[in-house]
Amino acid sequence: NARQVVQVCSKGEKILVGPAMRKLAILNETNEEGISIVVNRQGSISAIDTHSKIMKNFSHCSFDHVIDATGKCILPGLIDGHTHPVWAGDRVHEFAMKLAGASYEEIHQAGGGIHFTTEKTRAASEDELLASFKDRLMSMLRYGTTTVECKSGYGLDTDSEIKMLRVIERARKEVPIEISSTFCGAHAVPKGSSVKQATEDVLNNQLPAVLLLNQTGELQVENIDVFCEKGVFDCDQTKQILEAGVKGGLAINFHAEELNYLGSAEIGADLNARAMSHLEKISDAGITAMAKSGSVAVMLPNTAYILRLVPPPVRKMIEAGVPIALGTDFNPNAFCLSMVVTMHFACVILRMSMEESLVAATINAAASIGRAETHGSLEVSKFADMIVADVTRWEHLIYQLGSSDQLIQHVIKKGEIV
Ligand code: NIG
Ligand code: FE
Repeated sequence: NARQVVQVCSKGEKILVGPAMRKLAILNETNEEGISIVVNRQGSISAIDTHSKIMKNFSHCSFDHVIDATGKCILPGLIDGHTHPVWAGDRVHEFAMKLAGASYEEIHQAGGGIHFTTEKTRAASEDELLASFKDRLMSMLRYGTTTVECKSGYGLDTDSEIKMLRVIERARKEVPIEISSTFCGAHAVPKGSSVKQATEDVLNNQLPAVLLLNQTGELQVENIDVFCEKGVFDCDQTKQILEAGVKGGLAINFHAEELNYLGSAEIGADLNARAMSHLEKISDAGITAMAKSGSVAVMLPNTAYILRLVPPPVRKMIEAGVPIALGTDFNPNAFCLSMVVTMHFACVILRMSMEESLVAATINAAASIGRAETHGSLEVSKFADMIVADVTRWEHLIYQLGSSDQLIQHVIKKGEIV
């Protein structure tokens, strides 16, 4: 008997662009009669209707479980479109260095950053990595995330990359959060290696090993990622790696135009990338190309905030018709597991409306990982991934920064309270 059910969209839309991002489908906005949702034993939604109609139509049914949501709001489970969550060794010391004036690139060039985390992650056992990863996933669930994209990328050699991807497979079986897994062996050039050697290693060793394990069913990697950046992988190398991934059946979802403009958004659009992340430095031509290709732009406001980057031109991108999604970018540089906090920053830093940020954190994030048909909105026959929040209007979740622990009462994944 919920007060508001925020469906996000209701006409079978797979992705929302432009002004459509600002018009949410909210049931019972007038608060006249409560709305109820019926979930079947397969974990999908059977019906959404007024409370009285549901009571009448399902009077012959006995329910396994009833949640009283009187006066509360129900929203779709949040989808985190971009994370680097498997690693050992925190970087709180680098946070201090950055506060004292060092830049992300300076720390990386000096052998810190991704290199520091790679060293610690290589040295850690699979069990150690799994334990901390599972804790992080449990926190994400508590904050309302029911599906998350997870990258490798702190191994940077075949064995260590596979170790990370195996950890993701094991966690999948042990934590009730859904994962879209991404191979990101081209996250940095490993110490002691040239970019040419690193590209060849990804193309000739790492990627084939991942694809082989995908074939045997030991891994279920869905996406390919590259950190396309000055001093990391250039546009040509990025293109080669992404194309090889596509050949192997992976979807393109990569780091583009973060710290320096390289024209990588244009390249991604050319390759029909399913998604590109960051885009702080995207050009007008890149925006036009992305609007045309329909590639989803995954915005990461936590990183822009922590690194004090000039935020990406999101308003311009929305006006141009680029589909916008959100991710936490959880990693040792940007330690934030909460999509609710990310939505708040999207509103304040990226100047998105609360409606736009919810769309970006649900249906559009689902599209960024190829799940918009089944996830990202509360519609009959979609998965019952939901949040029950003790708020009178859904916007309180974003507005009350840092309060989601108190506000989110239940998180439901495929019909199960988790
Ligand atoms: O998305 N930019 C590249 N990758 C991550 C950072 C990874 C790290 O610093 O460990 C990002 O911000
Ligand atoms: Fe990232």
